This record gives sequence, C-alpha cells and structure tokens, in this order.
Amino acid sequence: MNAVPVDAAVIVAARAEHLPALEALIFDHGANSWNYLPEDGIRAHLADIARGRDHGLVALRDGDILGAVTFGLNTDFDRYVPAPLRGTPQGYVSEAVVRRDRVGQGLGTRLLREALAVLSTMGVQRVFIDRHEENHASAGMMRRAGFVEIDTYSDPRRRPHGSGRTTVCCFSYPAESGLPGR
Ligand SMILES: CC(C)(COP(=O)(O)OP(=O)(O)OC[C@H]1O[C@@H](n2cnc3c(N)ncnc32)[C@H](O)[C@@H]1OP(=O)(O)O)[C@@H](O)C(=O)NCCC(=O)NCCS
Repeated sequence: MNAVPVDAAVIVAARAEHLPALEALIFDHGANSWNYLPEDGIRAHLADIARGRDHGLVALRDGDILGAVTFGLNTDFDRYVPAPLRGTPQGYVSEAVVRRDRVGQGLGTRLLREALAVLSTMGVQRVFIDRHEENHASAGMMRRAGFVEIDTYSDPRRRPHGSGRTTVCCFSYPAESGLPGR
C-alpha cells in the first residue's frame, strides 16, 4: 500500500473531466455485497452532475481520485420530515466510495462532512442517506459525520444479501449553523 496519507488529498467539486474516473471508482471500488449500485441510475446521476443538476466531490492526490461522494436535492425522504417541510427538497447523499487501498483513514468521513458543508449552502434543513443495515464501514462513516439512524426496513430488492434491510440516516443542521467536527 502506498504510504501517502489520505489527508494529503485535496477535495474539489467533481467536474465533467473527473466523471470517467469517478464512474470507474464507483463500480470498481464501491462494489460489495452491501452496496446497491444500479448501473443505469448511477450513470444518469453522473450525467446530472455533468449538467450541474446533481453534485459531487472528489478527493484528489497527484491527479488520482482516492474517494468521492455524490449528492443532490430531492423529496424522496419526505416521509421523514415534519409536515410543513414536505414537498420541499432536502439533501440526499447518493454514493460514497473510497479506494480500497485507502479505506479506514478517515477519508469517507471527511468527504461526507464536506458534502454537508456544500448542502448547507443550498438551504436544506436535513440531509438523508441510506445503506445496507450491515454495511459497517458505511455506518461508521455516517456516525462520524453526525448522521443518526432513523429507520430500518425490509428492502430485499435492493438488499439481496444478509439481513436484506435498509437503514436510513439523517443529518439535521443545528439552528445556529456549525457543522460537527469542523
Ligand atoms: C463506506 C466507505 C466510503 C467508508 O470510507 P472510509 O474512508 O473507510 O471511512 P472512514 O475511514 O472515514 O471510517 C469512518 C468510521 O467507520 C469505521 N469503519 C471503517 N471501516 C469499517 C469496517 N469495515 N467495519 C467497522 N467499522 C469501520 C472507522 O473505524 C471509522 O470509525 P472510528 O473513527 O470511530 O473508528 C468505504 O468503506 C467504501 O468505499 N466502501 C465501499 C462502498 C460503500 O459501501 N459505500 C457506502 C454506500 S452507503
């Protein structure tokens, strides 16, 4: 393993020129029994990043992408927000992935915190993310970034392995700004 620490990586907004490497990172390093990666949906999401409709951050070191997070706004998690906020787009995180030879060094948490910082400028009150109930690396990253678990439900179509359940996590921005750990 390369000894260069991931904290030497620079995190920048994903641009069109990053997308081929970002797609390869997601499919080559994001694939595991716990991660739902619908190819068409992810390619459409990446195309939306290129158009500026969705967003991404990439961690770069010497031109290589070590990790990435992608996100946007939607109303898909409306059932978890108070009635007055329903119909108002909130933040969601779609993909979070770190190169296999760089996991466990805090890069996923750093990327997720940066995504929260970007989403906070978009006027949302909450950010949602979901994962396989048993994706422990993902769970640790979300916990470290300040997300709390709000629901777990049976989801065999997207989760054919293990418990077959999805856990939904939410980050709520404090009223007086200030992101945890920043
Ligand atoms: C999920 C992922 C992005 C996390 O990235 P990462 O850089 O390794 O995460 P971090 O180093 O920031 O780890 C955050 C916390 O999770 C813990 N953690 C990491 N891997 C773990 C594992 N396999 N089992 C248990 N805890 C783990 C870390 O110890 C850390 O917690 P701590 O500081 O309290 O010890 C990375 O593992 C990955 O790319 N996985 C494949 C794709 C995937 O499953 N994405 C999630 C989709 S929801």
